[in-house]
Amino acid sequence: MMWKWLGALLLFPVQMVYLVVKAAVCLVLPPKLRDLSRENVLVTGGGRGIGRHLAREFARRGVRKIILWGRTEKCLKETTEEIRMMGTECHYFICDVGNREEVYRQAKAVREKVGDITILVNNAAVVHGKSLMDSDDDALLKSQHINTLGQFWVRQALVMLELQNGHIVCLNSVLALSAIPGAIDYCTSKASSFAFMESLTLGLLDCPGVNATTVLPFHTSTEMFQGMRIRFPSLFPPLKPETVARRTVEAVQTNQAFLLLPWTMHVLVILKSILPQAALEEIHKFSGSYTCMNTFKGRT
Ligand SMILES: NC(=O)c1ccc[n+]([C@@H]2O[C@H](COP(=O)([O-])OP(=O)(O)OC[C@H]3O[C@@H](n4cnc5c(N)ncnc54)[C@H](OP(=O)(O)O)[C@@H]3O)[C@@H](O)[C@H]2O)c1
Repeated sequence: MMWKWLGALLLFPVQMVYLVVKAAVCLVLPPKLRDLSRENVLVTGGGRGIGRHLAREFARRGVRKIILWGRTEKCLKETTEEIRMMGTECHYFICDVGNREEVYRQAKAVREKVGDITILVNNAAVVHGKSLMDSDDDALLKSQHINTLGQFWVRQALVMLELQNGHIVCLNSVLALSAIPGAIDYCTSKASSFAFMESLTLGLLDCPGVNATTVLPFHTSTEMFQGMRIRFPSLFPPLKPETVARRTVEAVQTNQAFLLLPWTMHVLVILKSILPQAALEEIHKFSGSYTCMNTFKGRT
């Protein structure tokens, strides 16, 4: 017993060094990309914004079928037609991911009409954009239902993905790691969704066959945060949705667990863990994050 314990203790640092070196080597070598030609992909919120770009990117990389979920038929239809023009089979379903019954109903409809999903992209989200005191209860609940609980309602899909050795992707946000005022609904929902994905990645959800990718982008130029004003836009320009989509699909193809976009956001994570609270508050003031949502006029 003692020898076994001692062996494990000695092996552990060797294992750590091996894994770090392996990850560093993988960073410089050209990545081996997973073939997507047999995959059926479901993108929630696939009608517009990053979701539409994700559908395009998956189509470009040759997936078998793409299924889009969303609430607005017009943009779902437009994206579906565009994807079909690219030569990929595509279907859309009207589905509010915050409505549990509707999710169960449409998941069944997808299975009957299209077959099993092998890659699920949880992309749909809303931001209310008001302070806690100015928000009404329904608006606060809506963000939690769509941005967080929607992921619980897809648990049936998780079972399905496990059977297929599938992949679940979450379009999260850097705001899950560093909150801003005026988006308390969004930040808390994204933080909770991050914990869900971390649990899945660590194998805590009893779905060992499911791979997971969590993408945490910085501000991206879609309609979601329209009007939000960054203090130093030339220093921190918004990401392009096509870049977020491309990097997301690459992360799926390389089975990357977490992706911060841009990479400089890693500095934020490091600073958060070493700086005193007062210094962090000064950074928030200096970067204008306390006031950036004052001009917000996005839509839910
Ligand atoms: N834009 C950014 O700055 C930014 C930054 C970091 C992370 N993200 C994340 O990236 C993802 C995509 O955001 P985006 O910028 O593309 O936003 P967007 O342009 O506002 O698109 C949001 C998508 O979600 C769909 N959606 C919203 N509520 C839904 C519901 N209840 N059921 C089904 N679909 C719903 C919308 O379609 P319908 O309204 O037609 O349903 C739309 O297709 C989100 O998860 C967001 O949190 C965005």
